[in-house]
Amino acid sequence: MNVGARESRIIQKPGIELPGFRLMLTDNTTPLVELRDLTFGYGERAILNKVTLSVPRGKVTALMGASGGGKTTVLRLIGGQIRGQSGQTLFDGQDVGTMGTGALYEARRRMGMLFQFGALFTDMSVFDNVAFPLREHTQLPETLVRDIVLMKLNAVGLRGARDLMPSELSGGMARRVALARAIALDPELVMYDEPFAGLDPISLGTAARLIRQLNDTMGLTSIVVSHDLDETFHIADQVIVLANGGIAAQGTPDEVRHSDDPLVKQFVNALPDGPVRFHHPGPALEADFGPVPRGGRP
Ligand SMILES: Nc1ncnc2c1ncn2[C@@H]1O[C@H](COP(=O)(O)OP(=O)(O)OP(=O)(O)O)[C@@H](O)[C@H]1O
Ligand SMILES: [Mg+2]
Repeated sequence: MNVGARESRIIQKPGIELPGFRLMLTDNTTPLVELRDLTFGYGERAILNKVTLSVPRGKVTALMGASGGGKTTVLRLIGGQIRGQSGQTLFDGQDVGTMGTGALYEARRRMGMLFQFGALFTDMSVFDNVAFPLREHTQLPETLVRDIVLMKLNAVGLRGARDLMPSELSGGMARRVALARAIALDPELVMYDEPFAGLDPISLGTAARLIRQLNDTMGLTSIVVSHDLDETFHIADQVIVLANGGIAAQGTPDEVRHSDDPLVKQFVNALPDGPVRFHHPGPALEADFGPVPRGGRP
């Protein structure tokens, strides 16, 4: 935990305990999130096989890898929406996979999540969207809710857009409102699932810088799932590449970029073919299309 950033928030709001604020000194050396030998499958389908990874406090960790590789699954495990079949998912040293409802609820209050395709509530204004988690999870008076919402909107540059409805926002703006909503409860961990998807290069750059900036100024720990290599490598302190049910690489952007591992090379160079399978597992071609005719398929 970045104690400096937390202290500055107390100074901003003397005498008021902000939601999510915890008066405790956590040691900075243990990771905020750790997966240890985590195995998970949906029914019979194995998705993660004995995955071990760690997310250091105060840093931006990028979680990358081929589509269907299990990135969203990892975020859902950390958030406790799903539980591993074996191994541990530790958040601040506690196993999310064995928590009861109360402990899980407490842990989730310390996490912010920007969901993949995460839509805003379309029938609520920008203001009400950001206020939603505060009203849902706290009993703060409306005047304080207002202050916090405007502070968060200010942080993403959209204080002036508070009265707009989601239909009146551009894609980039909507993403920034979702970001403000994700940090409304002053989380320690923010998980972003594809925050750049569908954004033009300028909005993408803005969103990426914002994630980095919020991480540093608010003393957060961030996990960013993204397919955008350049921008993600640029803002990340650590990159983890998931492939074929395991970790293909974990290191600084430079280390991953220069990895000799064929899997990682395929990924970093965006090659369509390599160790990562392009095809979702399924019946053999022959089973669906019949035997291959002489001379091959047309
Ligand atoms: N609720 C579910 N039930 C069954 N299978 C699922 C479920 N959610 C995901 N899967 C499967 O788990 C695998 C991993 O999915 P996941 O969403 O974690 O991938 P991802 O790495 O986030 O992919 P993308 O980059 O496309 O978002 C996929 O093969 C998917 O089909
Ligand atoms: Mg996903």
